[in-house]
Amino acid sequence: MNPAPDYQKRIEEALRDPKNLGELAGADAVGTAGSAACGDMIRLWIKFKEEAGKKVVDRATFQSFGCETAIAVASLATEMIRGKTAEEVLALSAEELAPGLGPLPPVKIHCTQLVESALRSALQPAAATPPPAAATPAAAPSLVDKFTQASQPAGKLRVILLTEDK
Ligand code: FES
Repeated sequence: MNPAPDYQKRIEEALRDPKNLGELAGADAVGTAGSAACGDMIRLWIKFKEEAGKKVVDRATFQSFGCETAIAVASLATEMIRGKTAEEVLALSAEELAPGLGPLPPVKIHCTQLVESALRSALQPAAATPPPAAATPAAAPSLVDKFTQASQPAGKLRVILLTEDK
């Protein structure tokens, strides 16, 4: 089945009232991911609360330097992870983060993976694999470099670059 015909409609619907935009003051975790394929980026903030003896997501917000699909997925994902533990969030696949969008065209699957990577960057920074130094161009500062330098104290941010589409 070709998901393309309904795709734009579903994205437009999700973008009509995007949720959880912007920085979250007092966040407990911050994660950033960038796509080497398209240059888009997502940053997520997560704040936890105690509920029934468990530490669960109270609120999550995002900023996107990305396409409409990435914004729609981030909006849906920041809503759906509320009330989940970090382990439960990390167990979700990229597709599970935004089930309301349905199947995406292959060229847009990395947009969902970008959000998933930002979540992993926030919740599991020790497991995130930074890109090898040789893969980083030595030219002028990239958007990732500028974004990284702009707003995070050293040691608090990990940027994950997605290098391939699946
Ligand atoms: Fe790159 Fe959507 S086109 S995140």
